[in-house]
Amino acid sequence: MDNENFHDVLVIGSGAAGLGLALAVASKARVAVLSKGDLKEGNTRYAQGGVAAVMDESDSVESHIKDTLKAGAGLCDENVVRYVAGNGRKAIERLIRLGVDFSRDKNSGGYHLTREGGHSHRRVIHAADHTGEAIETTLAERVRAEPNISLLENHLAIDLITDEKDFGSGKCCHGAYALDTAAGHVRLLRAKTVVLATGGASKVYLYTSNPDCATGDGVAMAWRAGCRVANMEFSQFHPTCLFHPQAKSFLITESVRGEGGRLLLPDGTRFMDRFHPDAELAPRDIVARAIDHEIKRLGVDCVFLDISHKSRKFIESHFPTVHHTCLEFGFDMTKEPLPVVPAAHYTCGGVMADLRGRTDIRDLYAIGEVACSGLHGANRMASNSLLECLVFSGTAADTILGSIEKRGAPPPLPEWDESWVTDADEEVVVSHNWEELRRFMWDYVGIVRTDKRLERAKRRIGLLLTEIAEYYGNFRVTSDLLELRNLAVVADLIIRSAAKRKESRGLHYTLDYPEAAGAHPPKNTILTPEGFSP
Ligand code: FAD
Ligand code: SIN
Repeated sequence: MDNENFHDVLVIGSGAAGLGLALAVASKARVAVLSKGDLKEGNTRYAQGGVAAVMDESDSVESHIKDTLKAGAGLCDENVVRYVAGNGRKAIERLIRLGVDFSRDKNSGGYHLTREGGHSHRRVIHAADHTGEAIETTLAERVRAEPNISLLENHLAIDLITDEKDFGSGKCCHGAYALDTAAGHVRLLRAKTVVLATGGASKVYLYTSNPDCATGDGVAMAWRAGCRVANMEFSQFHPTCLFHPQAKSFLITESVRGEGGRLLLPDGTRFMDRFHPDAELAPRDIVARAIDHEIKRLGVDCVFLDISHKSRKFIESHFPTVHHTCLEFGFDMTKEPLPVVPAAHYTCGGVMADLRGRTDIRDLYAIGEVACSGLHGANRMASNSLLECLVFSGTAADTILGSIEKRGAPPPLPEWDESWVTDADEEVVVSHNWEELRRFMWDYVGIVRTDKRLERAKRRIGLLLTEIAEYYGNFRVTSDLLELRNLAVVADLIIRSAAKRKESRGLHYTLDYPEAAGAHPPKNTILTPEGFSP
């Protein structure tokens, strides 16, 4: 067996979920971690607010569960919520042991806990406003020092390799094809177990807080391989990203509002109390929709977020990253309100996975933002995502280790065949389609939807899917083409899921059905690939 291309565990993705899992299995398994760019690049690295976990005596796991269920608007799986909230403290303690330096409270000397929308307590542990960087750097250092882990950076997974048996329990995953983007060729990577930890898909929208790599590759690969996908209509829009043409929707953390920041109209008046009793700390969907509503009502470009009533010292110590970045764009948050707009932020739906991260395909796991685990329901509560990554990387790791010894090596698998393709003649087709797709998703499948807008989006995605399939069939693969192909699949799944939900619930809001339907219990939107039999 060619050891370089064969591992016990192939982890696709190097964020909190992927690296957390790799570290947890490395003492007993040979692991490869794939990252399509630099090891540290991904949503995790940009997380600001922190990780939600019950760390304070006056708080309780029951309260965390209650808040999460409320935000999820009837679609959370309560068992999963209980499990994740109940394991929050353990997950944080593991990070602290690994070396993550969370911020301390100057008065008590314990960890400082900040507050975010939907949480009824201060419960978000953080490293100032660069929590993701602190976690990602610590995990990356640990992973680099681990002899049992091979790091394959600049490797973009193209598709999963499954055996030819029927869908359902018989079908098994044996590895993946990946484009080595530095060398320019496709590698066949075999494994006893494959873990999708590829993050979210918010790049499907024109404006997003996410880095470029958030193109939904894992959801698209799993769908093509035969996994069911759930709740893709629930795209979360973060209410407050910096409004500036060069800022690429830089996020202004919700904890600015948690620490007293106020949302203002251009004339300086507050408005959130007209939309929700918790005003600026209402759940994210409500704040994003309220801002969208006010921007459209007044015909303005943005609203404003003001924390300048706090001392400079307070702002600089709690929000060093936000303060520094805003200064680069000419805004001093210690003295003036910041112009803000909503942008696509988080993908609540994804590959259906159980409490151990197992998918519909044997030996294929999905953890972190790529998965639909049942934790978030129709709306993710702030800072529950990193928590999900940390908890699920542990439970999936335990499950994998429990069965890995029984797993034989995968059968011989076909090498990537590109004998029938040529180099692309017109790269502009790819860049044009990228732009078109992200724009119509923003215009027609964004914060406020209607049947008519979804119908328009459906027609356009149909055309794009056909065009991209032809292009993929004829030309040698590039990372832009592969990501576009995945974005188109994800866009199609979002549109189809949104069209199925004839009500407004959580993050899915439609003018045609502005109320939640009476169905009890409400149902998840499950899309099933052709030929699937459970
Ligand atoms: P990611 O961290 O996104 O990692 C995905 C990995 O997959 C990357 O390494 C990428 O290279 C790799 N990958 C993707 N496709 C492929 C492919 N085809 N081949 C190979 N590799 C691939 N959540 C919180 O809980 N608290 C916060 O404070 C918070 N703040 C946030 C702030 C910002 C600006 C953003 C964008 C998100 C924030 N979130 C926050 C959400 C949270 O950061 C993410 O949901 C979480 O980090 C996802 O982790 P992950 O490991 O699932 O994926
Ligand atoms: C933020 O810091 O506002 C982001 C928190 C999150 O997305 O969970």
